[in-house]
Amino acid sequence: MNRYTILFIIIILISGLNTTAQEGKRFFPEKDLITTGIYYYPEHWNEDQWERDIKKISDIGFEFVHLAEFAWFKMEPQEGKFEFDWLDKVIGLCAKYNLKVLMCTPSAATPAWMRARYPETFVMDGHYIRAEHGTRGLGSIVNPVYRKFVTTIVTAMARRYGQHKNVIGWQLDNEPDAKPDYSPSSQEAFRQWLKNRYKTIEALNAAWGAAFWSQWYGSFDQIIIPNTSLVGWWGNNPHALLDFKRYSADAQAEFLDFQAATLRSYISEAQFITTNYTAVSTGADPRRTNKLDFATYTAYPNGGTDNIGEQGFRLGNSKVILFAAEYYKTTGGVSGVMEIQPGPVNWGGYNPLLLPGTVRMWLYHTFAAGGKLASSYRFRQINYSAEQYHAGVIQPDGITPSPGGEEYMQFIREIKTLRKQYKPGAAMPASLVARSTAIVWNLENYWTIDRQKQTWQWDTWNYPLKFLEIAKSFGAPADVIPETADLSKYSLVIVPAYEMADSSLVKKWSEYAANGGHLIITCRTATKDRMGHFWEAEWAAPLSALIGAQVKATDMLSNNGKGEILMGSNHYSWNNWADLLAPDKNTETLAVYDNQFYKGKAAVVRHKVGKGTVTYIGVDTDDAKLEKDVLRGIYAAAGATTENYPPGVYVYWRDGFYVAVNYSSDNYTMNVPATASVIVGERTLQPGGVLVWSLR
Ligand code: GAL
Repeated sequence: MNRYTILFIIIILISGLNTTAQEGKRFFPEKDLITTGIYYYPEHWNEDQWERDIKKISDIGFEFVHLAEFAWFKMEPQEGKFEFDWLDKVIGLCAKYNLKVLMCTPSAATPAWMRARYPETFVMDGHYIRAEHGTRGLGSIVNPVYRKFVTTIVTAMARRYGQHKNVIGWQLDNEPDAKPDYSPSSQEAFRQWLKNRYKTIEALNAAWGAAFWSQWYGSFDQIIIPNTSLVGWWGNNPHALLDFKRYSADAQAEFLDFQAATLRSYISEAQFITTNYTAVSTGADPRRTNKLDFATYTAYPNGGTDNIGEQGFRLGNSKVILFAAEYYKTTGGVSGVMEIQPGPVNWGGYNPLLLPGTVRMWLYHTFAAGGKLASSYRFRQINYSAEQYHAGVIQPDGITPSPGGEEYMQFIREIKTLRKQYKPGAAMPASLVARSTAIVWNLENYWTIDRQKQTWQWDTWNYPLKFLEIAKSFGAPADVIPETADLSKYSLVIVPAYEMADSSLVKKWSEYAANGGHLIITCRTATKDRMGHFWEAEWAAPLSALIGAQVKATDMLSNNGKGEILMGSNHYSWNNWADLLAPDKNTETLAVYDNQFYKGKAAVVRHKVGKGTVTYIGVDTDDAKLEKDVLRGIYAAAGATTENYPPGVYVYWRDGFYVAVNYSSDNYTMNVPATASVIVGERTLQPGGVLVWSLR
C-alpha cells in the first residue's frame, strides 16, 4: 500500500465516524417562505466591478450570493499555496450590502497544475483514454490523490469560512452525476465494492449469471468494469452493468459524504450542507448519501424541444420541476432549486426566446411545490468562453437586467407580499389530504428497465412521471417516495414499473392495502429479483396473490399498430406494452383487450385486499386516457373529490397559499371561490401565467 492508499483508507474511516445530517427545514425560517439567491463568479470579472455587481445583486432583492463553485484555480493557484484574500474581499462586500453567502466546494473544476502533475486524478473513458484539463466534472472521485487534494482545499475553506456568520451553508461540488470511470483507480474501487457485496467469487458468478458465454471468474482480480464501448451491446451482462451503476452511485454518494464530513469538523451548526443534482439525474442517487442536510436540484426546462401546445417550445418541459421538486425532498425533508434557467441557454438543439413570464412561472412552480430556496445560474451573462450565449440575469453590458432578470425581480417583490400575508400553522385542507398520493420509485428500476426496454417505445424516465401528471391533473398532492417510506399517510400509493422487488416489499404493499389503502401496481413490477433475475416461477410470481391475477404474457406492437381496449362502454387504444392477465375468481376485471388474437383477455384488474383495494394496470397507453379513467375511479372509491386540470396546469397548496401555474399554450380559468382573496395574478391564467390565492 502506498501512502495515498493509506491516507484514503483513513479518510473513509473518518468520514464514516463523523456527524450526520440534520433536518433540512431548520435552516429556513417558515415565515420567509422561500429565499432567493444568485450565482456570482467574481473570478470572471475585473475586481473594480465587484462592488458595483454586488450592490446590484442586493438592489434586485436577492438574499444570498453563491460563490467559489469553480474557483479552485484562484484559491490554490499553485499546489499547496492558498490565496483567499480575494474571496474575503467579496464576502466583505456581500456583508456590506446585506447579502448572505452560499459557499461552494470547488471539486468539480480542478486547477491546471493537477492534471499536468497528477494525471491519475482524472477519469478514463471506455476506451481507457484519460480525460484532459479544460472543463469540469472530470475528476476521478475514487482516486486517492484527487481525494487528498479535495481534502486539503475543503479543509482550508472550512477553516476560513466555517464560522463566518455571513456564510449560511455549503454546496458540495457541482451537479454530481456518478460519471462512469474506467481508470485503474476506479477498476480497483469497483473490485473492492464487489468483494464487500458478494464476499466470495462464487456468489458473484451466481449473481451475474456468469456461466453464460463463459464469463465465469476465477477470482475478483480477473474482473474489469463491464465495458459497453469494447464489448458491444450484446456482450454486456445486465447484472454486471447494474452493479456498475450501483457502484458508481455509491462512489458518488460516498464522495459527497466524505466532503460533508470534512466540512463538519470545522463549520458551525448554523451552516447547512447540500449539493445541486441535475433535475433529471439518471446516475447519481440522492438517497445514497447520509451526511447532507438536504438536496437541491438544477432546472433547465427549456432546451429547445416541443412541449405542450404551440407555445410549449418557449414554456419548456413542465415535468422537470414537477418531478424534481418532489423527488429531492427525500433527503432531509426539504428541497429547493439551486439553478433555474434565467433565459435561453447555449446547449439546446436550438435556443428560443422564452415566452414572457416563463422564468417567473418556473420560480413559482418550485415555490408551490414547497421549495425553500430558489437560485439561478448566473448573474452576468459572460462575454467569453463556452457559455457566452447562455443568458444571465444581467446582460453582457454588465448592468442591464435581461427579461429573465426582470422576472426574477418581480418574483422577489411578490414573495415579499406573500411573506406579509403568511400566517403560521395553516393545515392542509381536508379535501386535499383525502387525495394524497405517493409514487414509489427508485433509480435501480430505471437502470434495469432502461437497459432491457424490450420495445423502443418504452419511455423509462417518463413512465412514472405519467402517473405523477395524472395525480396532478386531479389536483392531488403527490410525493415521490422510496420503497422504505411510511405508506400509511397516503390515500393512494402508485407503484409504476417497479421491476426489481422481493417478497418483503410485496408484503409491505399488501399490508398497506389490507389496512384500507388503495394500491395501484402497473406492468413491469416485480418481474425480477434484486439482482435482475427472473423468478423460477410464474411471471411476476410475488405479485400474483396480491393482484389476484397472473400475468400470462406480454405483447408489444409496431409504432403504427393499434391495440384496442374496452372499459365499460369506453374504447381506448395502446401500442407500447400489454400484459395479458388471467384473473382469479374473486378478482374484478375492469378493462379487456378488444382486438388482436387475444380479444377479451383482461388488461386491468381490481382485487379487494382487507379494507383496501389493489388495482393492476397491465397496459401502457400513449395518451394515458385509460390510466386516467382507472385512477379517477380509485380516487372516488377512496372518498376523494378530483379536479380535471388540463395538461400543464398544476395547482399546489403550501403554507396557506394555493398556487397555480400554466405551462399550456391556452388560457385557463381557475375555479377560485368568489370569497377567496387573489394575491398574485388573475383567475384566468395565460400561458406562462401564475395565480396565487388564499381562502379567507
Ligand atoms: C448547469 C451547470 C452550470 C452551467 C449550466 C448551463 O448544468 O451546473 O454550471 O453550466 O448548466 O446551462
